[in-house]
Amino acid sequence: FLPALVALAFGYLLGSIPFGVIFTRMAGLGDIRNVGSGNIGATNVLRTGRKGLAAATLIGDALKGTAAVVIAGRWGTDLAVIAALGAFLGHLFPVWLGFKGGKGVATFIGILIGLKPLAALIFAVIWLGLAFTTRYSSLSALIASALSPVALWLLGEPKMAVVAVILVVLLWWKHSENIKRLLAGTEGKIGQKG
Ligand code: G3P
Repeated sequence: FLPALVALAFGYLLGSIPFGVIFTRMAGLGDIRNVGSGNIGATNVLRTGRKGLAAATLIGDALKGTAAVVIAGRWGTDLAVIAALGAFLGHLFPVWLGFKGGKGVATFIGILIGLKPLAALIFAVIWLGLAFTTRYSSLSALIASALSPVALWLLGEPKMAVVAVILVVLLWWKHSENIKRLLAGTEGKIGQKG
């Protein structure tokens, strides 16, 4: 039980580093939570017009998930999966931001990279295909993430698939405003100032 708790806490601490907030503040852009959708993720950082900062946010938010999984994974797959859950919760509910964090897309990809690179590749292909055709970051992520547990299952990783279902439910819940806007036809497209 103790190793699981340590893996969860370790993942949480890594996941709670809000790269979007840190990078935009360092660049003198103020608080990203006052921009566009108010989200701390790469899609919203892109609304500042700073592509490099958006890319850095995407990479940082992804790699913290990968790092949590890879480091905890040295003590076994079960602990890697628990650290993944911790990192995701850390990103969504960071104590440093009053538990108001991001929506989890980049961290989800990073976790997949750490757990099952092929599943991450499948996610990336689906996400990119949808993003290029629809220009909706949220819609692309919602669909790509929902298919990930299926991909993990088919790749012979039932435990990872079960945890991925939990992450997907949280991710969809965090996107409830985006879903409402998508249904109303008012969701902003990628790169659009919102
Ligand atoms: O799935 C992408 C998500 O992060 C959307 O962000 O800023 O458009 O709410 P945002």
